[in-house]
Amino acid sequence: MAINYTEDIQIEKSKTSKIANVDFNNLAFGRVFSDHMLVCDFRNGEWQNPSIVPYQPVTLEPSAKIFHYGQSIFEGMKAYKDSDNNVFLFRPVDNFNRLNISAKRLAMPELPEACFMNGLKELIKLEKDWIPTSEGSSLYIRPFMFATGQGFHASPANAYKFIIACAPSGSYFSGKVKVLIEEKYSRSANGGVGFAKAGGNYAGQFYPTQLANNRGYQQVIWTDDNTHEYIEEAGAMNIFVRINDTLLTVPTSDRILDGITRKSILTIAEAEGIDVEVRKIKVAELIEASENGSLKELFGAGTAAVVSPISGFGFKGKNYELPELENTYGALLKKRITDIQTNKSDDPYGWRVKVC
Ligand SMILES: Cc1ncc(COP(=O)(O)O)c(C=O)c1O
Repeated sequence: MAINYTEDIQIEKSKTSKIANVDFNNLAFGRVFSDHMLVCDFRNGEWQNPSIVPYQPVTLEPSAKIFHYGQSIFEGMKAYKDSDNNVFLFRPVDNFNRLNISAKRLAMPELPEACFMNGLKELIKLEKDWIPTSEGSSLYIRPFMFATGQGFHASPANAYKFIIACAPSGSYFSGKVKVLIEEKYSRSANGGVGFAKAGGNYAGQFYPTQLANNRGYQQVIWTDDNTHEYIEEAGAMNIFVRINDTLLTVPTSDRILDGITRKSILTIAEAEGIDVEVRKIKVAELIEASENGSLKELFGAGTAAVVSPISGFGFKGKNYELPELENTYGALLKKRITDIQTNKSDDPYGWRVKVC
C-alpha cells in the first residue's frame, strides 16, 4: 500500500516544553535537543508510517546489529530563520540523496524522498521556536539511520530505524584552528566507505585526532591512505587552499565526502570571478607555497562551521603559519553562503527551501 507521507505523519506533542531552560544566547554546538523527533521504522521489507513524537530514549535489544556490525549512517543539516520569522532549509534534497548513497553502501534500505522531506518539514514547523537567530547560530538537524534488527550473524539487519532530531546550536568552532597533516593514519581508503556518512568513519578518526590534540593541534588533515602525499579532508570537513589568488580543492572520490558546502563554495567562488581549480594537492606543494609566501589561506568547509579558517599546520615536526589577511576568500564565501541560507540575499541557485 502506498503511504501518503504528508497526511500520514502522526504527531504526538510533548506535554511540556524544555525550551524555557535553554539559554539561546550561549549555545554550544549540538548539546541540547529540541522537544520532538521524527521516527520511522523499516520492518517487513518496507518503511512504515513516520511519526513525530517527544524527544526520548530509544530502546534496543543487545543483539541489535547496530551494536555489532555498525550499520549506522547520518546526515547533518540546518534550519535558519530570517528577520521576519520565515524558516528555511539549505539544499535539503542533497542531504536526502547523500543519505541514500550512504544507505546503499552500508547495505541498508533506502528511504523514500517523501518520508524524508515531508517528515523533516513537519518536524521543523513544529520546532520553529527552537531555531536560534543570533549571528552564527541555527537549528542543527541530525537525520540518522541504524540497524535495529537482531542477530549475532554478520549480515545486514532486517529492521532499521530512521530518526531526525534537532539541536539549537551556536558556532561549531570558535576562532582559527591549528591542524596536523597526518602521516600514518587514514580515515578512508579506495573501495571503502569514506564517501558515505557512516558512523564508523568518525569513530576511526577519533584516536588519531586525540594524538594530534595531545600535540597541540585541534584537527587532522587527512592524506591519501596509499602514499600520504596528497591532502584529502580537514577533520570532518572538505579542504580548501588558496595559493596566490587561486582557490583549490581536491576532487571527491571513494575516500572523500561530497560535501554540500564544498560544492556550494565552488559555485559561488566561480560566480565571484575567483580562479578555482579542482585537482589533487600534494603536501609538498603546500609546504613549498608556505615557504615561498604564496600560500594565503587554508580552510575547512562543512555544514557545521560553514568555513573554518586554519591558522597553521604541522608536518614532520615542523610548524607552518598562515598569514593574517584582511580580506579572505574564506570570510567572503562564508558570508555569501550564510546570506543565502538566512534569506539576507537573493538565491540565484534555488538552494533555499522555505518551510514555513
Ligand atoms: C568527512 C566529512 N567531510 C566533509 C563534510 C562536509 O559536508 P557538508 O558540507 O555536506 O556538511 C562532512 C560533514 O558533513 C564530513 O563529515
